[in-house]
Amino acid sequence: MFKQIDLQRLVKEKLADYVFVVVSNRQPYIHTYVGDKIECSVPASGLTTALDPVMQACGGIWVAHGNGNADREVVDSKNRVSVPPESGSYKLKRVWLSEEEVDRYYLGFSNEAMWPLCHIVFQRPKFDDEDWYTYKNVNRRFADAVLDEIGNRKAFVFIQDYHLTLVSRLIKAKNPRAITAQFWHIPWPNREAFRVCPWQNEILYGLLGNDLLGFHIAYHRHNFLDTVDRALECRIDNEKFSVTHGNHTTYVRPFPISVDFESITERSQATEVEREMAAIKNKYGITDEIIGIGLDRIDYTKGIPERLMAIDQLLTKYPKYKFSKRVVFFQLGEPSRLKIKKYEDLNVEIERLIADINGRHETDGWRPIIYIKEHKSPVTLLAFNRLAHFCLVSSLHDGMNLVAKEFISSRLDGDGVLILSRFTGASRELEDALMINPFALEELAETIQAAIEMPEEQRRKRMDRLREKVREYNVYRWAADIITAMVDIK
Ligand code: F6P
Repeated sequence: MFKQIDLQRLVKEKLADYVFVVVSNRQPYIHTYVGDKIECSVPASGLTTALDPVMQACGGIWVAHGNGNADREVVDSKNRVSVPPESGSYKLKRVWLSEEEVDRYYLGFSNEAMWPLCHIVFQRPKFDDEDWYTYKNVNRRFADAVLDEIGNRKAFVFIQDYHLTLVSRLIKAKNPRAITAQFWHIPWPNREAFRVCPWQNEILYGLLGNDLLGFHIAYHRHNFLDTVDRALECRIDNEKFSVTHGNHTTYVRPFPISVDFESITERSQATEVEREMAAIKNKYGITDEIIGIGLDRIDYTKGIPERLMAIDQLLTKYPKYKFSKRVVFFQLGEPSRLKIKKYEDLNVEIERLIADINGRHETDGWRPIIYIKEHKSPVTLLAFNRLAHFCLVSSLHDGMNLVAKEFISSRLDGDGVLILSRFTGASRELEDALMINPFALEELAETIQAAIEMPEEQRRKRMDRLREKVREYNVYRWAADIITAMVDIK
């Protein structure tokens, strides 16, 4: 297994004379006022969960949007704060955005145009000129924050996601000694879907400013190369998987992102997690019920209504799960992007569905679905992972989905069943999960039944193999592969 220390060694050896910078929209730590005290917490984000241990190993600077109401109180004159609070292993540099910039760059262009454009869930993207204009300006602000740190020194800048497609070229225009890699955390759709974007060429041109471009799976890379081939005058090398545009070459590779397997396994054994498990059971009156979990940001790509409807079907078809062998499904949902109408509507839809399903099935004090709609600490999430008989990941489309890998990592006991959507990047690796098409409700209900009834021996065999996969290809391996590819290219 590749460990944190191996990554540290690799960075020391290969990137010794480079400043290491990560840039993303979402920050890994947020400072907020709770009463008159400032608290530091971690947001619900696959991206930051994956990259924080990498940064803790590599050190360096992480540039991100400071969106906490106490963020400004804790930074120095260069808008930096050392994180994590316990160890201060690296610097977080915050970029400040006005409310209008957030509305247009983050909610508007990133999440009402790019997000539905790249996730094939039949949600129409909204293209607005003002949003695009603000997106371009904000990308410049992020690039300036990076340049403020690296000056004209040699730097390895690792850019994240669809919020920052223009950053690479803006950095290189001022510091040609910077090398850049960008990782795309969401799917890349086929060229027919992407070509409706009025600014497709600017976005592709921006991304091709990078030396390396990473996707989760080969299929997204294929879609990207196909999109570029159709849209731009360029040369594609299908053996090296590179695109040459003008006199610059970008290498395009799949790197399936992962989690810190060892640390999750270890943290999930902590006494505080066990205490939390007991507290949850006590609070919700759990004794010998079959527990299912769904842990998500509330997003229309996650297939939350679909899974609730499948539970409804399960209870209707197999009433024993209401009487003799009761099932309790915990849906934990972190509210997200609420200013966007589609997200607001989804929140209403979920609450209505749960009230309806519970209303029709509940009997003498038992309710099938318990909805916890708030931010939960990592300890609570681990406790739910450990209590679960099955974890249900029913994304309609998802770049990777790290909830699945976190569930596996937390199960040192070797038990638990993962039900996983075929439309996640994770399904390519986690073949021992029970695969579902979340649009096929009957199949989904039957698969939940199969998970509940699966004999222990089979559950353990599957979980063993799943754990082996995530242990082997953990987040340090992911980061090391990207760094090694960068160094080889250079
Ligand atoms: O993984 C895709 C992603 O958009 C990340 O970029 C992001 O951290 C996560 O989902 C959560 O979304 P947001 O940062 O918009 O809350």
